[in-house]
Amino acid sequence: MRVLITGITGFAGSHLADYLLDNVGDVEVFGTTRWRSPTANIDHIRDRIEFVETDLRDASSVEELVRNFKPERVFHLAAQSYVVTSWKAPTETITTNIIGTVNIFEAVRRAGITPKILVACSSEEYGYVEPDEVPITEDNPMRPLSPYGVSKVGQDLLAYQYFKSFGLDVVRTRAFNHTGPRRGRVFVCSDFAIQVVEVEKKLRPPEVTVGNLDAIRDFTDVRDTVRAYWLALEKGKKGEVYNIASGTGHSIGEILDKLVAISGVDVEVVQDPARLRPSDVPLLIGDNNKFRADTGWEPEIHFDQTLSDILDYWRERI
Ligand code: GDD
Repeated sequence: MRVLITGITGFAGSHLADYLLDNVGDVEVFGTTRWRSPTANIDHIRDRIEFVETDLRDASSVEELVRNFKPERVFHLAAQSYVVTSWKAPTETITTNIIGTVNIFEAVRRAGITPKILVACSSEEYGYVEPDEVPITEDNPMRPLSPYGVSKVGQDLLAYQYFKSFGLDVVRTRAFNHTGPRRGRVFVCSDFAIQVVEVEKKLRPPEVTVGNLDAIRDFTDVRDTVRAYWLALEKGKKGEVYNIASGTGHSIGEILDKLVAISGVDVEVVQDPARLRPSDVPLLIGDNNKFRADTGWEPEIHFDQTLSDILDYWRERI
């Protein structure tokens, strides 16, 4: 089976490549990269995957990719994925995420091929959620609070529209927060874990700098998330949208406490106003019943294990 992963050098993309190579027999994995994409996440499997240099914002580049490789599965994971950057670079976020998605759909349609396509959407699409709306089902209204959230609504609705208009075999997944080893430094679990490890190694004073600790998020281990992506295309229904969530919420403060407890360091917590967002989604806890019913997926890795693995990952690199 010929599988294309956009964003293969990224966090979820690299874990998905690992999952496919380890668990799916007879698979050829192709991944898009941009020139200068850091390759640390996939260096260990470099000789088992093929890279295609592609700019998803460039329609001709995507058309050539799809025409040449004729994928049977497409996992569209490439995105500007950091919420904070979406306020600093809203146009770039919208262009990469929305235009990049249209370019893939158009390239597939014009090539006359019928791959199954997963579009990695996000719980950020739900945005502001009332306390009596959790756990959030797929039918909840979308009230995105960042340009990133809006860009993901755009991807999501385009996928729906291309399914309806042209019968594209698309499944949309709204992943709630996912984390684990290789998560970029700017995301909360990595950011806090790095600071804790720096305290362990006496590279910084016993102090952790934070933003809003009151937000509540629903975390899944990335290794469970990428298994969900695979199942979404194998067992999910064409045109459908699915939450991928654990169903459990943790405040960000609780996550810091857990990291500190696993490490055993003693730290002072300092809030940096520069880390507060113009609007932060206060509460995201997902209802995963629809996805479980259609695919049999269950999260398997406990969150404490994930946090412990993240600390180990950074201990090896700092
Ligand atoms: N990054 C960061 N750094 N976040 C902090 C900090 C900090 O120092 N302190 C508190 N937070 C809070 C943020 O305000 C937010 O409420 C929460 O921690 C999580 O922040 P991120 O890890 O940056 O993730 P996110 O929730 O904004 O977005 C992630 O999840 C989405 C799914 O809901 C990203 O992975 C998105 O790409 C993904 O779609």
